[in-house]
Amino acid sequence: MKLEGRIAVVTGSASGIGAAIAEAFAAEGARVAGIDLRPSGCELSLEADVTDEEAVRGAVAAVVERWGRVDILSTNAGIAVRKPVEELESHDWDRVIAVNLRGVFLASKYALPHMGSGAAIVHMASVVGLTGTRNRAVYTATKGAIVALTRNMALDYAGRRIRVNCICPGFTRTPLTEKLFADPEREARFTALHPLGRLGEPEDVARAAVFLASEDAGWITGVALPVDGGFTAGQAADI
Ligand SMILES: NC(=O)c1ccc[n+]([C@@H]2O[C@H](COP(=O)([O-])OP(=O)(O)OC[C@H]3O[C@@H](n4cnc5c(N)ncnc54)[C@H](O)[C@@H]3O)[C@@H](O)[C@H]2O)c1
Repeated sequence: MKLEGRIAVVTGSASGIGAAIAEAFAAEGARVAGIDLRPSGCELSLEADVTDEEAVRGAVAAVVERWGRVDILSTNAGIAVRKPVEELESHDWDRVIAVNLRGVFLASKYALPHMGSGAAIVHMASVVGLTGTRNRAVYTATKGAIVALTRNMALDYAGRRIRVNCICPGFTRTPLTEKLFADPEREARFTALHPLGRLGEPEDVARAAVFLASEDAGWITGVALPVDGGFTAGQAADI
């Protein structure tokens, strides 16, 4: 088991990629605390809004009270709004930035004091944070920022031997994306963006999270790892 006895905090643990990561961490022997707006199936399920500083501070305190420390932080709570800049309302902008970025900041801020040498942080970015995409201005901005934040945090905490990496998934089947894939023709267009010929499953991303959280990745920090069926390798069209 790759994470035997490790104490893991997973945000966005009630659904999709976060739920798969929480399950994979537990299957590898970790004790897992989930933080989500909704109850999650984790050993310790904490209901909190990741944008609420007191709620995040309290949730991390509950983990430390139960298990004494944090070895792994995996940040997945995220939302998306599909609009270009002109059509975005400023409250949409503020909310996506709050969940996708302030939430990552707050979870990191309150977990880090309880993390020691050998600990690992795995943020959830996206391929759109590496390449850009149409119609997702604020979502893409938050994911690009997570890639930058990951590098900065990797440098800031390398001295304490805490590794910080992020994953950039391609389009993955979860409740967040199910509407995008409801129409078979549209699903085929999304699939065609991934040279390996299929959409991602949450478990594809979870396996990468286990790797980055484990000692197998002991000399890896500051990377943005695409887990994307080849999406970022280049144009998939036969030209
Ligand atoms: N699905 C994809 O194609 C895809 C691709 C790349 C990156 N991602 C990223 O992966 C992460 C997980 O996405 P998913 O597809 O599993 O989505 P999802 O909607 O299935 O799960 C997101 C979870 O976050 C929780 N959440 C939302 N706002 C919250 C808040 N304010 N406080 C606490 N919890 C909150 C939700 O309750 C939900 O359980 C997100 O950061 C997303 O941007 C997803």
